[in-house]
Amino acid sequence: MTDEGSDPSVSGGTPDRKVPLASPRLLESELQVAMDAYRSGWLCMGPRTAELEESMCAYTGADHAVAVSSCTAALHISCLAAGLGPGDTAIVPSLAFAATANAVTWTGASPRFVEIAGIDRPWLSAEAAEAAIESSTKAIVAMSYGGHPGDVADLAELAGQHGLVLIEDAAHASGSWQNGRHVGTFGLAGALSFSASKNLGIGEGGMLLTGNEEVACRARSLRWHGISASTWERRDAAAPEYNIRDVGLNYRLDDPRAALVNALLHRLDKDNRRRAEVDATYREAFSGSDDLLVVAPPPDGERASYCVFAIVLAEGIDRTAFRESLSQRGVETSIHFPPLHDSPAYKGCSMALPLTEAFAERAVSLPIFPHMENWQRELVVDAVFEAAAAGNSESRANGGPRSRSAVAAG
Ligand SMILES: Cc1ncc(COP(=O)(O)O)c(C=O)c1O
Repeated sequence: MTDEGSDPSVSGGTPDRKVPLASPRLLESELQVAMDAYRSGWLCMGPRTAELEESMCAYTGADHAVAVSSCTAALHISCLAAGLGPGDTAIVPSLAFAATANAVTWTGASPRFVEIAGIDRPWLSAEAAEAAIESSTKAIVAMSYGGHPGDVADLAELAGQHGLVLIEDAAHASGSWQNGRHVGTFGLAGALSFSASKNLGIGEGGMLLTGNEEVACRARSLRWHGISASTWERRDAAAPEYNIRDVGLNYRLDDPRAALVNALLHRLDKDNRRRAEVDATYREAFSGSDDLLVVAPPPDGERASYCVFAIVLAEGIDRTAFRESLSQRGVETSIHFPPLHDSPAYKGCSMALPLTEAFAERAVSLPIFPHMENWQRELVVDAVFEAAAAGNSESRANGGPRSRSAVAAG
Protein backbone atom coordinates (compact mmCIF):
# COMPACT_ATOMS: atom_id res chain seq x y z
CA MET A 1 0.00 0.00 0.00
CA THR A 2 1.23 3.51 -0.78
CA ASP A 3 0.28 6.52 1.26
CA GLU A 4 1.57 9.94 2.38
CA GLY A 5 2.68 10.80 -1.17
CA SER A 6 5.20 8.33 -2.43
CA ASP A 7 6.14 6.94 0.99
CA PRO A 8 5.20 3.25 1.06
CA SER A 9 3.93 1.80 4.30
CA VAL A 10 3.39 -1.49 6.06
CA SER A 11 0.09 -2.02 7.86
CA GLY A 12 -0.58 -4.62 10.48
CA GLY A 13 -3.60 -6.06 12.22
CA THR A 14 -5.02 -9.51 12.78
CA PRO A 15 -4.14 -11.69 9.76
CA ASP A 16 -6.99 -13.12 7.65
CA ARG A 17 -9.43 -10.39 8.60
CA LYS A 18 -10.82 -8.17 5.83
CA VAL A 19 -11.29 -5.51 8.47
CA PRO A 20 -9.06 -5.87 11.53
CA LEU A 21 -10.04 -4.12 14.74
CA ALA A 22 -6.90 -1.99 14.63
CA SER A 23 -4.14 -1.75 12.10
CA PRO A 24 -0.81 -0.25 13.15
CA ARG A 25 0.87 1.34 10.15
CA LEU A 26 4.47 2.42 9.71
CA LEU A 27 5.75 4.42 6.75
CA GLU A 28 9.03 3.48 5.12
CA SER A 29 10.54 6.82 6.17
CA GLU A 30 9.53 6.11 9.79
CA LEU A 31 11.03 2.64 9.72
CA GLN A 32 14.19 4.29 8.42
CA VAL A 33 14.33 6.50 11.52
CA ALA A 34 14.26 3.38 13.71
CA MET A 35 16.90 1.72 11.51
CA ASP A 36 19.10 4.80 11.87
CA ALA A 37 18.78 4.44 15.64
CA TYR A 38 19.81 0.78 15.46
CA ARG A 39 22.70 1.61 13.10
CA SER A 40 23.92 4.32 15.48
CA GLY A 41 24.95 1.54 17.83
CA TRP A 42 23.15 3.13 20.83
CA LEU A 43 20.34 0.69 21.48
CA CYS A 44 19.23 1.54 25.01
CA MET A 45 17.73 4.74 26.41
CA GLY A 46 19.64 7.78 25.19
CA PRO A 47 19.41 10.97 23.13
CA ARG A 48 16.48 9.85 20.95
CA THR A 49 14.42 9.12 24.05
CA ALA A 50 15.21 12.62 25.35
CA GLU A 51 14.13 14.06 21.96
CA LEU A 52 10.83 12.21 22.16
CA GLU A 53 10.24 13.58 25.66
CA GLU A 54 10.81 17.12 24.37
CA SER A 55 8.43 16.55 21.45
CA MET A 56 5.80 15.16 23.82
CA CYS A 57 6.05 18.24 26.06
CA ALA A 58 5.70 20.49 23.00
CA TYR A 59 2.71 18.54 21.65
CA THR A 60 0.76 18.03 24.89
CA GLY A 61 1.77 21.17 26.76
CA ALA A 62 2.97 19.06 29.71
CA ASP A 63 5.91 20.52 31.65
CA HIS A 64 7.57 17.12 31.92
CA ALA A 65 7.36 13.92 29.89
CA VAL A 66 9.09 10.74 31.06
CA ALA A 67 9.34 7.94 28.49
CA VAL A 68 8.80 4.44 29.86
CA SER A 69 8.34 0.89 28.60
CA SER A 70 4.52 0.89 28.70
CA CYS A 71 1.46 2.78 29.87
CA THR A 72 1.23 0.24 32.69
CA ALA A 73 4.71 1.29 33.81
CA ALA A 74 3.70 4.96 33.64
CA LEU A 75 0.60 4.25 35.75
CA HIS A 76 2.55 2.25 38.32
CA ILE A 77 5.21 4.95 38.64
CA SER A 78 2.50 7.62 38.87
CA CYS A 79 0.84 5.78 41.75
CA LEU A 80 4.19 5.31 43.53
CA ALA A 81 5.13 8.96 42.98
CA ALA A 82 1.72 10.00 44.33
CA GLY A 83 2.61 8.19 47.55
CA LEU A 84 -0.11 5.53 47.32
CA GLY A 85 0.53 2.62 49.65
CA PRO A 86 -1.01 0.14 52.09
CA GLY A 87 -4.12 1.49 53.80
CA ASP A 88 -4.91 3.93 50.98
CA THR A 89 -7.72 3.53 48.48
CA ALA A 90 -8.05 4.95 44.98
CA ILE A 91 -11.29 5.49 43.11
CA VAL A 92 -11.08 3.58 39.81
CA PRO A 93 -13.72 2.95 37.12
CA SER A 94 -14.62 -0.73 37.06
CA LEU A 95 -15.03 -0.37 33.30
CA ALA A 96 -11.31 -0.10 32.63
CA PHE A 97 -8.34 -2.14 31.54
CA ALA A 98 -6.64 -4.36 34.13
CA ALA A 99 -3.63 -2.01 34.23
CA THR A 100 -5.77 0.88 35.50
CA ALA A 101 -6.48 -0.98 38.76
CA ASN A 102 -3.36 -3.16 38.91
CA ALA A 103 -1.14 -0.07 39.05
CA VAL A 104 -2.91 0.91 42.27
CA THR A 105 -2.83 -2.61 43.70
CA TRP A 106 0.93 -3.04 43.15
CA THR A 107 1.59 -0.09 45.49
CA GLY A 108 -0.23 -1.92 48.30
CA ALA A 109 -3.24 0.40 48.04
CA SER A 110 -6.71 -0.86 47.04
CA PRO A 111 -8.92 0.18 44.14
CA ARG A 112 -12.47 1.24 45.02
CA PHE A 113 -14.49 0.49 41.89
CA VAL A 114 -16.97 3.14 40.81
CA GLU A 115 -19.74 3.53 38.24
CA ILE A 116 -19.60 5.01 34.73
CA ALA A 117 -21.47 8.18 33.75
CA GLY A 118 -24.11 6.47 31.59
CA ILE A 119 -24.80 3.57 29.26
CA ASP A 120 -23.60 5.76 26.37
CA ARG A 121 -20.95 7.55 28.51
CA PRO A 122 -18.65 4.76 29.63
CA TRP A 123 -16.18 6.82 31.65
CA LEU A 124 -15.83 7.43 35.38
CA SER A 125 -18.78 9.45 36.66
CA ALA A 126 -17.67 12.52 38.64
CA GLU A 127 -20.89 12.29 40.67
CA ALA A 128 -20.34 8.63 41.56
CA ALA A 129 -16.69 9.34 42.32
CA GLU A 130 -17.68 12.09 44.76
CA ALA A 131 -20.15 9.80 46.51
CA ALA A 132 -17.44 7.13 46.89
CA ILE A 133 -14.89 9.35 48.65
CA GLU A 134 -14.04 8.05 52.14
CA SER A 135 -11.37 8.78 54.71
CA SER A 136 -8.90 6.30 53.15
CA THR A 137 -9.30 7.78 49.65
CA LYS A 138 -6.05 9.25 48.40
CA ALA A 139 -6.48 9.27 44.63
CA ILE A 140 -8.88 9.18 41.72
CA VAL A 141 -7.73 7.27 38.66
CA ALA A 142 -9.65 8.44 35.58
CA MET A 143 -9.57 6.55 32.30
CA SER A 144 -10.21 8.07 28.91
CA TYR A 145 -12.54 5.51 27.32
CA GLY A 146 -11.63 5.04 23.67
CA GLY A 147 -9.90 8.43 23.70
CA HIS A 148 -12.99 10.35 24.81
CA PRO A 149 -12.06 13.14 27.26
CA GLY A 150 -15.14 12.21 29.35
CA ASP A 151 -15.54 14.05 32.66
CA VAL A 152 -11.82 14.66 33.18
CA ALA A 153 -12.03 18.40 33.97
CA ASP A 154 -14.81 17.72 36.52
CA LEU A 155 -12.76 14.93 38.08
CA ALA A 156 -9.75 17.25 38.34
CA GLU A 157 -11.91 19.82 40.11
CA LEU A 158 -13.35 17.18 42.41
CA ALA A 159 -9.88 15.90 43.30
CA GLY A 160 -8.75 19.47 44.03
CA GLN A 161 -11.76 20.15 46.28
CA HIS A 162 -11.11 17.04 48.37
CA GLY A 163 -7.32 17.20 48.48
CA LEU A 164 -7.00 14.05 46.38
CA VAL A 165 -4.55 13.21 43.65
CA LEU A 166 -5.86 12.70 40.10
CA ILE A 167 -3.99 10.17 37.96
CA GLU A 168 -5.08 9.78 34.34
CA ASP A 169 -4.99 6.56 32.38
CA ALA A 170 -4.74 8.22 28.97
CA ALA A 171 -3.68 5.04 27.13
CA HIS A 172 -6.30 5.68 24.43
CA ALA A 173 -6.00 9.45 24.46
CA SER A 174 -3.00 10.52 22.34
CA GLY A 175 -4.43 13.59 20.61
CA SER A 176 -7.51 14.06 22.88
CA TRP A 177 -8.22 17.52 24.22
CA GLN A 178 -10.71 19.11 26.61
CA ASN A 179 -10.89 22.86 27.26
CA GLY A 180 -7.69 23.28 25.22
CA ARG A 181 -5.76 20.86 27.46
CA HIS A 182 -4.42 17.52 26.40
CA VAL A 183 -5.97 14.58 28.24
CA GLY A 184 -3.32 13.27 30.63
CA THR A 185 -2.34 16.77 31.80
CA PHE A 186 -5.29 17.47 34.13
CA GLY A 187 -4.02 15.58 37.16
CA LEU A 188 -0.79 14.98 39.04
CA ALA A 189 0.28 12.57 36.30
CA GLY A 190 -1.08 11.02 33.12
CA ALA A 191 -0.06 7.90 31.20
CA LEU A 192 -0.06 7.40 27.40
CA SER A 193 0.39 4.05 25.63
CA PHE A 194 2.32 3.23 22.47
CA SER A 195 1.17 -0.39 22.34
CA ALA A 196 0.27 -1.68 18.90
CA SER A 197 -3.46 -0.88 18.77
CA LYS A 198 -3.12 2.69 20.06
CA ASN A 199 -2.94 5.93 18.06
CA LEU A 200 0.86 6.06 18.43
CA GLY A 201 1.17 2.29 18.26
CA ILE A 202 4.67 0.99 17.62
CA GLY A 203 4.62 -2.26 19.62
CA GLU A 204 5.24 -1.38 23.25
CA GLY A 205 6.02 1.86 25.05
CA GLY A 206 4.49 4.57 27.19
CA MET A 207 4.85 8.14 28.43
CA LEU A 208 4.24 9.72 31.82
CA LEU A 209 3.13 13.36 31.63
CA THR A 210 3.25 15.64 34.65
CA GLY A 211 3.39 19.29 35.62
CA ASN A 212 5.11 18.42 38.88
CA GLU A 213 8.90 18.47 38.91
CA GLU A 214 9.20 16.18 41.93
CA VAL A 215 7.00 13.57 40.28
CA ALA A 216 9.06 13.83 37.08
CA CYS A 217 12.33 13.35 39.02
CA ARG A 218 10.96 10.38 40.96
CA ALA A 219 9.63 8.85 37.74
CA ARG A 220 13.02 9.24 36.01
CA SER A 221 14.65 7.58 38.99
CA LEU A 222 12.11 4.76 39.36
CA ARG A 223 12.19 3.82 35.66
CA TRP A 224 15.90 3.02 35.94
CA HIS A 225 16.41 1.26 39.30
CA GLY A 226 16.91 4.52 41.16
CA ILE A 227 20.37 4.83 39.56
CA SER A 228 21.85 8.32 39.92
CA ALA A 229 23.35 8.61 36.40
CA SER A 230 22.08 6.93 33.24
CA THR A 231 24.28 4.86 30.93
CA TRP A 232 24.15 7.72 28.41
CA GLU A 233 25.41 10.13 31.07
CA ARG A 234 28.20 7.69 31.96
CA ARG A 235 29.27 7.01 28.37
CA ASP A 236 32.62 8.81 28.23
CA ALA A 237 35.96 8.00 29.81
CA ALA A 238 35.45 10.38 32.73
CA ALA A 239 32.14 8.75 33.57
CA PRO A 240 30.77 9.53 37.00
CA GLU A 241 30.29 6.67 39.41
CA TYR A 242 26.71 6.00 40.27
CA ASN A 243 24.62 5.41 43.37
CA ILE A 244 21.38 3.57 43.89
CA ARG A 245 19.20 6.32 45.35
CA ASP A 246 15.82 4.62 45.26
CA VAL A 247 14.40 1.10 44.95
CA GLY A 248 13.39 1.34 41.31
CA LEU A 249 12.45 -0.84 38.38
CA ASN A 250 13.46 -1.38 34.77
CA TYR A 251 10.73 0.60 33.00
CA ARG A 252 12.96 2.13 30.32
CA LEU A 253 12.05 2.85 26.71
CA ASP A 254 14.89 2.26 24.22
CA ASP A 255 16.11 4.74 21.60
CA PRO A 256 14.96 2.91 18.42
CA ARG A 257 11.37 2.74 19.69
CA ALA A 258 11.51 6.31 20.99
CA ALA A 259 12.64 7.47 17.53
CA LEU A 260 9.73 5.63 15.93
CA VAL A 261 7.13 7.16 18.27
CA ASN A 262 8.61 10.60 17.60
CA ALA A 263 8.20 10.04 13.86
CA LEU A 264 4.56 8.95 14.31
CA LEU A 265 3.82 11.98 16.47
CA HIS A 266 4.23 14.17 13.37
CA ARG A 267 1.16 12.64 11.75
CA LEU A 268 -0.93 12.05 14.88
CA ASP A 269 -3.37 14.92 14.24
CA LYS A 270 -3.83 13.92 10.61
CA ASP A 271 -4.39 10.29 11.59
CA ASN A 272 -6.89 11.31 14.26
CA ARG A 273 -8.82 13.41 11.70
CA ARG A 274 -9.07 10.28 9.54
CA ARG A 275 -10.25 8.31 12.56
CA ALA A 276 -12.86 11.04 13.13
CA GLU A 277 -14.14 10.47 9.59
CA VAL A 278 -14.61 6.76 10.27
CA ASP A 279 -16.36 7.65 13.54
CA ALA A 280 -18.67 10.03 11.63
CA THR A 281 -19.49 7.37 9.02
CA TYR A 282 -20.50 4.91 11.72
CA ARG A 283 -22.44 7.52 13.69
CA GLU A 284 -24.45 8.58 10.66
CA ALA A 285 -25.15 4.98 9.64
CA PHE A 286 -26.25 3.86 13.10
CA SER A 287 -28.14 6.96 14.27
CA GLY A 288 -31.80 6.19 14.79
CA SER A 289 -31.26 2.42 14.88
CA ASP A 290 -33.53 0.62 17.31
CA ASP A 291 -30.97 -2.13 17.72
CA LEU A 292 -27.98 -0.26 18.98
CA LEU A 293 -26.73 2.81 20.73
CA VAL A 294 -23.49 4.62 19.92
CA VAL A 295 -21.18 6.02 22.63
CA ALA A 296 -21.78 9.79 22.96
CA PRO A 297 -19.53 12.00 20.79
CA PRO A 298 -17.30 14.59 22.46
CA PRO A 299 -19.11 17.92 22.88
CA ASP A 300 -18.34 20.77 20.45
CA GLY A 301 -14.91 22.22 21.02
CA GLU A 302 -13.44 18.98 22.41
CA ARG A 303 -11.29 16.58 20.45
CA ALA A 304 -11.23 12.84 20.90
CA SER A 305 -8.55 10.52 19.57
CA TYR A 306 -11.12 7.98 18.30
CA CYS A 307 -9.00 5.06 19.45
CA VAL A 308 -12.03 2.79 20.06
CA PHE A 309 -15.53 2.90 18.53
CA ALA A 310 -18.09 1.11 20.71
CA ILE A 311 -21.77 0.37 20.18
CA VAL A 312 -24.21 -0.94 22.79
CA LEU A 313 -26.59 -3.64 21.56
CA ALA A 314 -30.25 -3.61 22.52
CA GLU A 315 -31.18 -5.92 25.35
CA GLY A 316 -32.11 -9.31 23.96
CA ILE A 317 -29.58 -9.33 21.10
CA ASP A 318 -27.14 -12.16 21.71
CA ARG A 319 -23.72 -10.48 21.68
CA THR A 320 -21.77 -13.67 21.05
CA ALA A 321 -23.90 -14.48 18.00
CA PHE A 322 -23.66 -10.86 16.84
CA ARG A 323 -19.85 -10.92 17.03
CA GLU A 324 -19.70 -14.35 15.40
CA SER A 325 -21.79 -13.03 12.50
CA LEU A 326 -19.38 -10.11 11.99
CA SER A 327 -16.44 -12.47 12.24
CA GLN A 328 -17.95 -14.64 9.46
CA ARG A 329 -17.91 -11.55 7.23
CA GLY A 330 -14.25 -10.90 8.06
CA VAL A 331 -14.90 -8.09 10.54
CA GLU A 332 -12.95 -8.25 13.79
CA THR A 333 -14.59 -6.96 16.96
CA SER A 334 -13.63 -6.71 20.60
CA ILE A 335 -15.01 -5.83 24.02
CA HIS A 336 -13.74 -2.87 26.02
CA PHE A 337 -13.84 -4.04 28.82
CA PRO A 338 -14.96 -6.89 31.10
CA PRO A 339 -15.76 -5.11 34.38
CA LEU A 340 -12.97 -5.30 36.94
CA HIS A 341 -15.21 -5.55 40.00
CA ASP A 342 -16.56 -8.85 38.64
CA SER A 343 -13.20 -10.30 37.66
CA PRO A 344 -11.60 -13.20 39.59
CA ALA A 345 -8.57 -10.99 40.35
CA TYR A 346 -10.76 -8.50 42.22
CA LYS A 347 -13.52 -10.82 43.37
CA GLY A 348 -13.30 -9.52 46.91
CA CYS A 349 -14.59 -6.18 45.58
CA SER A 350 -18.00 -7.52 44.46
CA MET A 351 -20.61 -4.78 44.38
CA ALA A 352 -23.52 -3.69 42.20
CA LEU A 353 -22.56 -1.32 39.39
CA PRO A 354 -25.59 -1.68 37.08
CA LEU A 355 -24.55 0.76 34.33
CA THR A 356 -21.07 -0.75 34.15
CA GLU A 357 -22.53 -4.25 34.06
CA ALA A 358 -25.09 -3.38 31.36
CA PHE A 359 -22.44 -1.70 29.20
CA ALA A 360 -19.94 -4.50 29.71
CA GLU A 361 -22.53 -7.14 28.75
CA ARG A 362 -23.81 -5.38 25.64
CA ALA A 363 -20.96 -3.31 24.19
CA VAL A 364 -19.06 -4.28 21.06
CA SER A 365 -16.02 -2.42 19.71
CA LEU A 366 -15.86 -2.07 15.92
CA PRO A 367 -12.80 -1.60 13.70
CA ILE A 368 -11.36 1.89 13.51
CA PHE A 369 -8.01 3.01 12.09
CA PRO A 370 -6.89 5.99 10.00
CA HIS A 371 -6.29 4.23 6.68
CA MET A 372 -9.59 2.35 6.69
CA GLU A 373 -10.85 2.14 3.11
CA ASN A 374 -14.42 3.05 2.13
CA TRP A 375 -15.23 -0.55 1.24
CA GLN A 376 -14.10 -1.61 4.71
CA ARG A 377 -16.36 0.95 6.40
CA GLU A 378 -19.27 -0.16 4.21
CA LEU A 379 -18.60 -3.79 5.00
CA VAL A 380 -18.63 -3.08 8.76
CA VAL A 381 -21.88 -1.09 8.55
CA ASP A 382 -23.54 -3.73 6.41
CA ALA A 383 -22.35 -6.57 8.66
CA VAL A 384 -23.57 -4.73 11.78
CA PHE A 385 -27.07 -4.25 10.33
CA GLU A 386 -27.21 -7.84 9.15
CA ALA A 387 -26.11 -9.21 12.53
CA ALA A 388 -28.46 -6.87 14.42
CA ALA A 389 -31.42 -7.86 12.21
CA ALA A 390 -30.65 -11.54 12.82
CA GLY A 391 -30.34 -10.89 16.56
CA ASN A 392 -33.52 -8.87 16.46
CA SER A 393 -35.67 -11.61 14.91
CA GLU A 394 -34.10 -14.19 17.21
CA SER A 395 -34.93 -11.98 20.17
CA ARG A 396 -38.53 -11.46 18.96
CA ALA A 397 -38.94 -15.19 18.53
CA ASN A 398 -37.93 -15.49 22.18
CA GLY A 399 -40.35 -12.70 23.21
CA GLY A 400 -37.54 -10.25 24.05
CA PRO A 401 -38.00 -6.46 24.20
CA ARG A 402 -37.42 -4.67 20.86
CA SER A 403 -37.65 -0.91 21.11
CA ARG A 404 -35.33 2.08 21.27
CA SER A 405 -36.04 2.35 24.98
CA ALA A 406 -34.82 -1.22 25.32
CA VAL A 407 -31.53 -0.09 23.80
CA ALA A 408 -31.18 2.72 26.31
CA ALA A 409 -32.34 0.68 29.30
CA GLY A 410 -29.85 -0.07 32.02
C1 LIG B 1 -7.26 1.77 29.03
C2 LIG B 1 -5.90 1.14 29.03
N1 LIG B 1 -5.05 1.44 30.02
C3 LIG B 1 -3.81 0.92 30.06
C4 LIG B 1 -3.39 0.04 29.10
C5 LIG B 1 -2.01 -0.55 29.21
O1 LIG B 1 -1.19 -0.06 28.19
P1 LIG B 1 0.23 -0.73 27.94
O2 LIG B 1 -0.01 -1.98 27.15
O3 LIG B 1 0.99 0.30 27.16
O4 LIG B 1 0.83 -1.00 29.25
C6 LIG B 1 -4.24 -0.32 28.04
C7 LIG B 1 -3.79 -1.26 27.02
O5 LIG B 1 -4.51 -1.75 26.21
C8 LIG B 1 -5.53 0.24 28.01
O6 LIG B 1 -6.41 -0.07 27.05
